[in-house]
Amino acid sequence: MTSLRLPGLIDPHVHLREPGAIHKEDFESGTKAALAGGFTTILAMPNTSPPLIDDDSLTLAEIAAAQKAVCDYGIHLGASPQNIETAASLAPRSSGLKLYLDATFGPLHLTDLNIIREHFGRWPHQRPILCHAEDRTLAAVLMVAYLEKRSVHICHVSRRSEIEIIRDAKMRGLDVTCEVGPHHLYLSTDDIPRLGAGRSEVRPRLATPDDVAALWANMDIVDCIATDHAPHTLAEKDSDNPPPGFPGLESSLPLMLTAVHDSRITLDDLVNKMVHNPRRIFDLPEQPDTYVEVDVDGEWTVREKGVSRCGWTPFAGMPVRGQVRRVVLRNQTVYEDGSFFASPGSGRNVAPAHQDKGS
Ligand code: NCD
Ligand code: ZN
Repeated sequence: MTSLRLPGLIDPHVHLREPGAIHKEDFESGTKAALAGGFTTILAMPNTSPPLIDDDSLTLAEIAAAQKAVCDYGIHLGASPQNIETAASLAPRSSGLKLYLDATFGPLHLTDLNIIREHFGRWPHQRPILCHAEDRTLAAVLMVAYLEKRSVHICHVSRRSEIEIIRDAKMRGLDVTCEVGPHHLYLSTDDIPRLGAGRSEVRPRLATPDDVAALWANMDIVDCIATDHAPHTLAEKDSDNPPPGFPGLESSLPLMLTAVHDSRITLDDLVNKMVHNPRRIFDLPEQPDTYVEVDVDGEWTVREKGVSRCGWTPFAGMPVRGQVRRVVLRNQTVYEDGSFFASPGSGRNVAPAHQDKGS
């Protein structure tokens, strides 16, 4: 077996559905899926039920994670009209502030420019702000970040118009970073007939082959590969009202190692986008004695069911390279060949307030 050793991967964009929808995923099943995919730190999104926008809701997620997580984690706070004055006080307990500015799953969609600007002005300047901002909304957000003299991280970039405006903004010195999801690199509108209407629903939507080509052509300015792991069950995806979202934790490293094999990116690019850049952008602690062993011999085929509770993947049947064999976290084997050896609750919260407590 030809084995490759990588640092523990970091995914800054994961939906774990706890509190509120643990039939889709919870902190244990989601962090196990993370380990199986080679991730040893994940940052959880706030569009849960209730959404994570105040002390009470954030506490619910913190307690669940402290009891169940098997890898390290941070929890993003959601921006809402209700927490303009209080969000900043929760910054030490969170990994960033997420603004949902375009159509999404959950109740956190923000449209009022005054509220958006207030959040940008009040959130601590040294802590991350993440935005779901597509097309023209992205241009508006770049202007707000510029006027408020602060950084902004753009989630799941999917279109030519978006990656090109980010390139131009970076060239002019704006403090902007961005992530792309493997599903927007490997799937397009051409795949919708094959996947079916419900199973191809995702936000941002699958884009055109020209958009996909633009993402690949601009990989040099893509800071992070983020899974946007957004699990919904097959029954939900095949229903009359399918929620948007794909699982991604278990397929993303094999897909990106396939890109390395096909010479679309280098292995250094992969490690920068899946380890070093997310650590820098989200100011995350080092994980000593932590690594992932990957079998890079030959091709294998993505299976429909993985560790995630959602029970499906849009990549089923796709030939890929690179299988995670073993994950070592802080000198302990936590995953090996399909088995987990980490006790629930052994994952650490990476938010500044929790690091200070050494928890
Ligand atoms: C996400 C979800 O299901 O929470 N869905 C998605 O299609 N990406 C919501 C989001 O990331 O905006
Ligand atoms: Zn998301």
